[in-house]
Amino acid sequence: MQAFTYRSGQLFAEGVAVKDLARRYGTPLYVYSRNHLRERYEAIASAMAEVKPLICYSVKANSNAAVLKTLAAAGSGFDIVSGGELFRVLRAGADASKVVFAGVGKTREEIEYALKERIRFFTCESEPEARRISECAKRLGLTGRIAFRVNPDVDPKTHKYISTGKKENKFGLDLDRTMQAYEMAAALPNIEIAGLHLHIGSQILSADPFGAALAKVKDFCLALKAKYPSFTTIDIGGGLGIDYKPDQQSLDPKVFAATVMPFLRELGLNVVMEPGRCIVGNAGILVCTVQYVKESYFKKFIVSDGAMNDLIRPALYQAHHEVWAVSATDKRVPGDLVGPICESGDFLAADRDLPDVGEGDLLAVLSAGAYGYAMSSNYNSRPRAAEVMVDGDKAFEIRRRETLEDLVRGESDIR
Ligand SMILES: Cc1ncc(COP(=O)(O)O)c(C=O)c1O
Repeated sequence: MQAFTYRSGQLFAEGVAVKDLARRYGTPLYVYSRNHLRERYEAIASAMAEVKPLICYSVKANSNAAVLKTLAAAGSGFDIVSGGELFRVLRAGADASKVVFAGVGKTREEIEYALKERIRFFTCESEPEARRISECAKRLGLTGRIAFRVNPDVDPKTHKYISTGKKENKFGLDLDRTMQAYEMAAALPNIEIAGLHLHIGSQILSADPFGAALAKVKDFCLALKAKYPSFTTIDIGGGLGIDYKPDQQSLDPKVFAATVMPFLRELGLNVVMEPGRCIVGNAGILVCTVQYVKESYFKKFIVSDGAMNDLIRPALYQAHHEVWAVSATDKRVPGDLVGPICESGDFLAADRDLPDVGEGDLLAVLSAGAYGYAMSSNYNSRPRAAEVMVDGDKAFEIRRRETLEDLVRGESDIR
């Protein structure tokens, strides 16, 4: 579905006018479409139905409780990377047996928390981590189930900061060391070998790299399956890309499924997936109000109240987000959409044909549902934005705007 469409020249989120939301909740404002979330989840589940995957939504993409609850109600499990994310998903009513825990730097506290909550398994990033999980599990008299994350050294052809399955990346174990790692881990007390994990990167628009990664680990998985009766699962990670630009095409879950299915069929293992961006990315927009339109030597700067602290992707990854006027206009002007932050990297769109808007007008930055609010900060002492979820013709404030008091909460004076 198209969650955000124009009706009589006004941008709507499902059945609600965005300008009414901006008036009611202020800006900068994140607006999400609940039905888009549901539909994307179902699209993946139905494309992959043959292997009945456990879909573990990747919480890092957007961790708002309303998002988590919506997906949990659809049947989703969760891919987490911290004790904080575990806390969030449990608070949202997640079934811990549908939670998998990734990340290269799990602390003892986080491991013990996850063990006590009886999560499904840890995707284990190194031999020292396996030893640490074993120690923690032994101390607690519990079993740590692990799936080693393998680095298959394939190029996912995405931005280098979100490529995770190449030799030079910090993630996973080199394939040629992995068998030894399994043997070592299998001999550790209180460890059960649950499976193998792959996650090669994010915003991948072709299914080919996923096929290439599976081709590299297939025989290896079959050998592990034969060796360890508890080796029952392959976790194929996330990474399916979305269309940030009009000339891009989201990776269709059906195309993805057609590529990975022959491998999964042959493996005959339980399948876990960890999609994030492709569920929530196009479910969200960031709505901003134009503060000034400033002419400089070379170009026009549209200065909005939304900034890099609200949406850091353009500054961090040179990411492209489409910018729409909330009240439609055909007139365009070349320029940059920037925020008020004291950094030249503070832009939401650079060197673009932007809607020709003036002071007080509203702009929507599209495809902002994933890695948007979740990566926001208080830089320049800016309170974080509010978040609203639209479901049909109803809107719910799912996070209130931060106040000035929120900025200093937790700080104390030197006594
Ligand atoms: C281990 C792991 N799984 C899943 C994801 C989700 O990726 P995406 O949002 O691209 O689907 C990530 C993202 O970095 C990740 O690190």
